[in-house]
Amino acid sequence: MTDRVPLTVAVDDERCRGHGVCWSLCPEVFTLTDDGYAEVSAAEVPPQFEGAVRDAYESCPERAITLS
Ligand code: F3S
Repeated sequence: MTDRVPLTVAVDDERCRGHGVCWSLCPEVFTLTDDGYAEVSAAEVPPQFEGAVRDAYESCPERAITLS
């Protein structure tokens, strides 16, 4: 068994403009504040959501999502 390095995700609140694409692609990881901006509810992405989080990363019009 190989050790898995967890994918971590963050939203840069200086860049986020509230497009909501991230939340629509993966509401299990991204939540929207009352103001409509994104927050991450799980910085370490559960393996089953990695694909959706990568899609969100590529789809955010503001490039506000970072993966590491
Ligand atoms: Fe914000 Fe991008 Fe999501 S602008 S709401 S992080 S799609």
